[in-house]
Formats: sequence, structure tokens, C-alpha cells
Amino acid sequence: MMNQNITVIEHALLEHSLSILRNRDTNDSVFRRHANTVAKILLTESTRNLATTHTPVETPISPTVCRRLDTQIVLMPVLRAGLAILPVAQELLPHAATGFMGVRRDEKTAEAEEYYQNIPEIPESHHVLILDPMLATGGSLESTISAVKEVGATTISVICVVAAPEGIERITKSHPEVRIITGAIDQRLNDDKFIVPGLGDFGDRYFGA
Ligand code: PRP
Ligand code: URA
Repeated sequence: MMNQNITVIEHALLEHSLSILRNRDTNDSVFRRHANTVAKILLTESTRNLATTHTPVETPISPTVCRRLDTQIVLMPVLRAGLAILPVAQELLPHAATGFMGVRRDEKTAEAEEYYQNIPEIPESHHVLILDPMLATGGSLESTISAVKEVGATTISVICVVAAPEGIERITKSHPEVRIITGAIDQRLNDDKFIVPGLGDFGDRYFGA
């Protein structure tokens, strides 16, 4: 099932924040604070090897050569829960463009239904970062990957907080070249297609709905 495109980020601060996100007694504002911490770590680690170019810089003391980011990024939050990762992504990658994908799971069937798309043209050279904290059945992510590929994307990474083996397997089969960066791979989905142990409904908890 697993391939080299799946990365589980191991970091003590992330583990700590995940323990708070998973706790059913965590309130909304604390949930948001720790979701931001997790997002920052996942984004920092997942962009570690983006292409850079050498560029001359004059420090107050002397000339030197530094490295500047040389990758155009398109951020793709998946509404609604992906919006939780967007502010942190924009802070770290201020030059990135942003597209939006609205997908929601049917409450009974857990099938993903698209309801909104606003995606810029994506040149082949650009790197797409799909932001969606939960990868459960993989239906929402599959729709989003297809949508960005339709407008030209070829290099695609997904940032999620918790992933289920079922969702990973589905994406690995349908889009094997897509990189998935996650804070954890959990045990399984339950009968309602929620991740076990998971953290419940991320969007409801983050937005206090
Ligand atoms: C959640 C989550 C993912 C999706 C994952 O969204 O944010 O987008 O479920 O499930 P899947 O892998 O089975 O498709 P939800 O549909 O609850 O909408 P929301 O973001 O508006 O809360
Ligand atoms: N979406 C969530 O927010 N949580 C899950 O466990 C599954 C889908």
C-alpha cells in the first residue's frame, strides 16, 4: 500500500499538538491554536526541498550569495476545513497564488460532492499544494486532484493532518505520483467513514460549528 510518496512528519511539537487536537475535551480556540501549530510544521517540513537559486545579496557587512525560492506555488484549500491551513500557508509562502475547491461529504453515504471551484490556470512548472486536514475515504481529495490536473497541474502535493489507510490506498492507486504529507496515518475508517481514532469532524471543531 505505502509508497515513497507518502511522508509522515515526525516532530515532537506536532505530536504534542496532535494529542490536543485528538482530545474530545479540547475547546474550539485551543483546537484552532494547535491546528495552526500542526499546519506550520507540516508546511515547513513539506517545503524543505523546494527549488532555490543562488542570488547575490549585500549584507550590511559584505557581499554574499544566498538562496532564494525558485518555485511558483499554487495553494488549493479544500473547503471548508482546508481554510484552516490557508493563513499559515500564506504567511510562509506569501507569493503563492490560491485556488479554491468546494467539496463536501454526503452525511449518509460519505460520497464527495463538488459544490464550488475557483481555480487559476496552473502552468506545468508550478507546484500545487492541496490543503485538506483530513484524508478519510479519499473522495474529496480525488475530486480535487482531478480538478487541478484539468487546469494543467503536474506537480501536486497534499498536506493533511490525519490520513486513513483507505484514503491513502485510493489516492496511491488513482494518482500514484501525488505526494502526501501527513502528521499521522491512523488505523482505519469506522462504519460512518470517520477516521479511527482520528479527531472527529475537523471543520466543525475548527470553525465551532
Ligand atoms: C472533510 C475533510 C475532507 C473530507 C475528507 O470535509 O475536510 O475534505 O471530509 O473525507 P473523504 O476523504 O472521505 O472525502 P467535509 O466533507 O466534512 O466538509 P467540511 O470541510 O466543510 O467540514
Ligand atoms: N472528515 C473529518 O473531518 N473527519 C473524519 O474523520 C473524516 C472526514
